[in-house]
Amino acid sequence: MDYSRRGFLTAVGASGGAGALLATMGALGLAPTAEAATRTRFDPPQPSDFTLTGRRAKKVIVLGAGVAGLATAYELGKAGYDCTVLEALDRVGGRNWTIRGGDRITELDGSTQIARFSDGIYMNAGPARLAQWMVTMDYCRELGVDLEVFTNSNAQTYIFNASAGMTAPVTWRTAKADVYGYISELLATATDGGALDAKLTAQDKERLLTFLRGFGAIGTKANGYAYTGGERRGYSTDPGAGEQPGTPLGPVPSLSDVLASGVGQRFSFELGYDQAMLMFQPVGGMDAIPKAFAEAVGRHKILLRSKVTKITDLPDGVEVEYQDKHGKTRTLKGDFCVAAMPPHILAKTPHNLGSDVQAALSTPTVTSSGKIGLEYRRRWWEMDENIYGGITNTDLDLSVVWYPSYGYGKRRGLVIGYYNNGSNQDAYAALPHPQREKRAIEQGVKIHGAKYRDEFVTSVSVSWRLQPHIEGAWVGWPSRTGAYQLLNRPAGHVHFAGDWLSYMIAWQAGALESARKTVTDLHQRVLAH
Ligand code: ALA
Repeated sequence: MDYSRRGFLTAVGASGGAGALLATMGALGLAPTAEAATRTRFDPPQPSDFTLTGRRAKKVIVLGAGVAGLATAYELGKAGYDCTVLEALDRVGGRNWTIRGGDRITELDGSTQIARFSDGIYMNAGPARLAQWMVTMDYCRELGVDLEVFTNSNAQTYIFNASAGMTAPVTWRTAKADVYGYISELLATATDGGALDAKLTAQDKERLLTFLRGFGAIGTKANGYAYTGGERRGYSTDPGAGEQPGTPLGPVPSLSDVLASGVGQRFSFELGYDQAMLMFQPVGGMDAIPKAFAEAVGRHKILLRSKVTKITDLPDGVEVEYQDKHGKTRTLKGDFCVAAMPPHILAKTPHNLGSDVQAALSTPTVTSSGKIGLEYRRRWWEMDENIYGGITNTDLDLSVVWYPSYGYGKRRGLVIGYYNNGSNQDAYAALPHPQREKRAIEQGVKIHGAKYRDEFVTSVSVSWRLQPHIEGAWVGWPSRTGAYQLLNRPAGHVHFAGDWLSYMIAWQAGALESARKTVTDLHQRVLAH
């Protein structure tokens, strides 16, 4: 059995190449087939690429110890490249920043907060969720970062559209029952009445009606496919024992009121390729990822509090000037440089890479985003409202409220009181922290009532535009031609990497994929000489 199977695989390998061999092994259950199914292929540089060809691994200076820079140093380092990472902050991770009690948050104007969070409480100020299909999951496996589910949508959370005249939030499950119910009623009525006969055969109509009855929980033809509510909406008193069947939530709003409330517009979020459940988070904080990378790279190769002050491409390499942690100006010389800093920070850094590069670095627009983390002395969202993780969606300036996907049933907990972008974030960023806190709580009281103020303990806010050396949450490109393409190629001996050079901006996966692309480009270049 073993022998014949090996013989078969060898034969396939000989005629079809490694890809066919792997596919066949997958079909036989010997190799994973699914992993590479949707992801860009990556062949990491290997030490043998040098030993087998008599070449020398080169010296690479990586600018920035964010996720892209760390992944670059990690992948190159595995193959024997001599990497030095320069990082302006006193920590690794960049926007991947987990704040715990005792941490200091300083903004560009020097204003400072000290986090007073309790033990075990943390706030992911930047990235906070991973989609299953993202390469980030693979790096967590490879680096030994433990994961748990991050609840990105939850039937028990709320929708609150104040501009539609709502005075109380609607539970997500109730909104969905009503929207799906009425849409199904309308479509069933139209279908049965012949309005869609040009598009549907008799059999199609029958099948569609069967689907709609389940999808919308609507009535039969005999009662006009009417939506009249039901258990999906939830209960004011839950079903219990004995003579307690439960009291269904009522009354059911009219179709017109449901449409006017605008709740249906919220449902598209949870269908997004990047936002659909299941999603994940590292246990204990997102910074487990950069910390694991830093250990794997070697902490001694990462120079913290080392701000890049000049990048000079040379005929035979590159020179990087930086200010070290003592304020002393130093230079490093390498064969190559990978600039894994935000483009708008690179654009402020003197260099000799040419005016095209400078114009390209200045092309993307910077987005504002930020969060506030509110610690509560009691997990009222769990105890009073049966909400265990997930997100409430609103049209208030706080945008969303996130309930923690960790620490269920513990005494204290941390809610994200706003995670907003653009002008909503700018309005909060313009305020000193105590006023951000006050405003966020005032808004949250509209959803959760007085306990949102009364049980609050302490908070921290991060406005990414105001974070030194980062100065923005993420960027947007006017197009993926021109400047974007230019920076996806090296300028002399300087390569670029970052989520901003990917189609997954504002995701660590974008930074990781970009790092892999840059590592591949650089390595191919080295092997070609
Ligand atoms: N990727 C970021 C998020 O999920 C923008 O919120």
